[in-house]
Amino acid sequence: MNTFAAEQRSYWIATAPQGEPYPAPDGDITVDVAVIGAGIAGLSTAWELARSGRGVALLEAGRIACGVTGHTTAKLSALHTLVYERLRRTRGAEAARLYADSQTRALERAAAIVDELGIDCDWEETAAYTYVEDPARTPELRAEAEAAREAGLAADYVTGTGLPFDVAGAVRVTGQAQFHPRKYLLALADDLLRQGARIYENTRVVGLKEGEPCRLTTESGATVTARDVVVATHYPIFDRALLFTRLSPRRELVWAAPVPADLDPQGMFITPEQGTRSVRTAPYEDGRRLLIVTGEHFGPGTADAEARFERLADWAVERFGKLDFAYRWATQDNDSTDSVPLVGPLPTPGRHTYVATGFGGWGLSSSIMAGRLLTDLINGRDSEWSGLYDPRRLGTVVREAPAFLKHQAHVARHFVGDRLPTGWGASTDGIAPGDGAVVLVGGHHWAVHRDDEGELHAVAARCTHLGCLVAFNRAERTWECPCHGSRFDPEGNVVQGPAIRPLEHRDL
Ligand code: FES
Repeated sequence: MNTFAAEQRSYWIATAPQGEPYPAPDGDITVDVAVIGAGIAGLSTAWELARSGRGVALLEAGRIACGVTGHTTAKLSALHTLVYERLRRTRGAEAARLYADSQTRALERAAAIVDELGIDCDWEETAAYTYVEDPARTPELRAEAEAAREAGLAADYVTGTGLPFDVAGAVRVTGQAQFHPRKYLLALADDLLRQGARIYENTRVVGLKEGEPCRLTTESGATVTARDVVVATHYPIFDRALLFTRLSPRRELVWAAPVPADLDPQGMFITPEQGTRSVRTAPYEDGRRLLIVTGEHFGPGTADAEARFERLADWAVERFGKLDFAYRWATQDNDSTDSVPLVGPLPTPGRHTYVATGFGGWGLSSSIMAGRLLTDLINGRDSEWSGLYDPRRLGTVVREAPAFLKHQAHVARHFVGDRLPTGWGASTDGIAPGDGAVVLVGGHHWAVHRDDEGELHAVAARCTHLGCLVAFNRAERTWECPCHGSRFDPEGNVVQGPAIRPLEHRDL
C-alpha cells in the first residue's frame, strides 16, 4: 500500500480549478434575496430563485464549492442508508413517501439542469446500495427495502452486489446518479450570472439584522439589504432557533486510488457497519476508474484523524487489493436529531430568514431539494414537502430525545470541563513538529502549534462561537471545536463555521 504519495486535497477541487475570484462588494447592495454560503445548497437555492425572477446576491466567505461541497463523495441518491424504516416508524408512512418523492425529484432536477445547460460533469446513472456483511443485520435491510418500496422507490433486497467481497444482504435502488460536483456547480454559477444574479467571494457575513427588510453586514463593512435571507452555510452561522441543540457535526475521511476499469464495482455503496464505509468510483486518466472510499466518522476535535486515515486505508486494501492512493481528504456533516434535514423559515418575527442544514451526509440531493423548497416558500407557494423539513417542527421532540440528550451531554461536557484549570499542560516542550496542544499560560488557555521548522504559533484556544476549547487535528493541521464543529487554521483563521470570527493571535 502506498499512502505517502497521496495528494492531501480533494479530487474534485484538484480537477476543477476556478479562475479569478468573483469580487467582493464595493459598496452597499439591495436585492430581493441574499443567500449566505455558496456550497451546493446556496448555489442551488440562488439558481432556483434567479430562475423564478428574483434578484439574488450570493455571498461566500471563501471560494464557491470549496467547503463541504468540494469535499463530498458526490453521490446523488434517494437511498440514504437506513432512513425509510426509521421515518416510517417515527413519523409515519406519509413522511417516508414525501422524503422519497422530494429526494427523487431533486435527482431529476439535477439531471434536467445538466441536460439543459449542457454541463460536462461526468454524470453517470448507476445503482445505489446499502449493504451489511453481518448476517445478523439482514432483517434491518429487509425492513429498509420494504419501507423504501412502500415510500415509492424502486427498491429491492438483494444478496449480490458488484463489490469484490461477500455481503450478507443489500438494498438496491436503480436509476440513481454520481457526478463531479464542482464541474456541475461552476457551470451553475456561470449560468447564475447570466440570469443577472450577483456572486461575491471572499465576503464573510458577520451580522444579520432581521426585519423588513433584513440587513446583512460583511466583514469589510458593506451592507446587503434584502427582503429575504437564506442561511446556507452548512452549520448555520445565524441561529435564532437554537438549531445547534439539534445538530451534531461529524467528520469523515476519504481516500481515492486509481483502479483498472474491470475492478469498478459499478454502483454506489454504503454500509452502516464499521463506523460507516462508503464506496463509489469516478472516471480517471488512461481509461482507469478512481476508487473513492469514505468512512471513520468521529466528532471534530475528538479523535486522532491520522490513525483513522490509516485504518480506512487498511480496510480499502483488504477489500480491493493493492492500491496506490492518489488523494486523501476529509469532510464534515451535520446530523439532525431525527435524521431529517432542517429546511425552511426560522421562527423570527418577520419570517424572512430561512435555513438549510442537517443533511447528515446526503447533502447533494438534499441541497437540490432545499433549493426548490426554499424558492417555493420565498415566492409564497405551498410545497407539500415543507412540513417534513420545517426547522420549527416540534412534533418530533419526544422521539428525538435520546439523540438530543446524547448531543447535549457531549456539548455540556466541554462547556463545563473546558472551564476547569486542570488537565492542560503548562509547557510547549512536548509538542512535536506538525502537532499542537492546548496549554495553560497565566491561567488562560492557548492553542499552540509547532510547524515543521519547529516554530511555535499560538492563538486563543476558546472557540469564538460559544467558547468551547479547540483541539488540534494533526492530520489536517486544523484546530477543531468539539461542540459544534467550527474549524480554524494554525493562525486562527476560520476554515469552517459556525464561528465567524478568528481565534485571536497570542505572543508566546
Ligand atoms: Fe460552537 Fe465552538 S463551534 S463553541
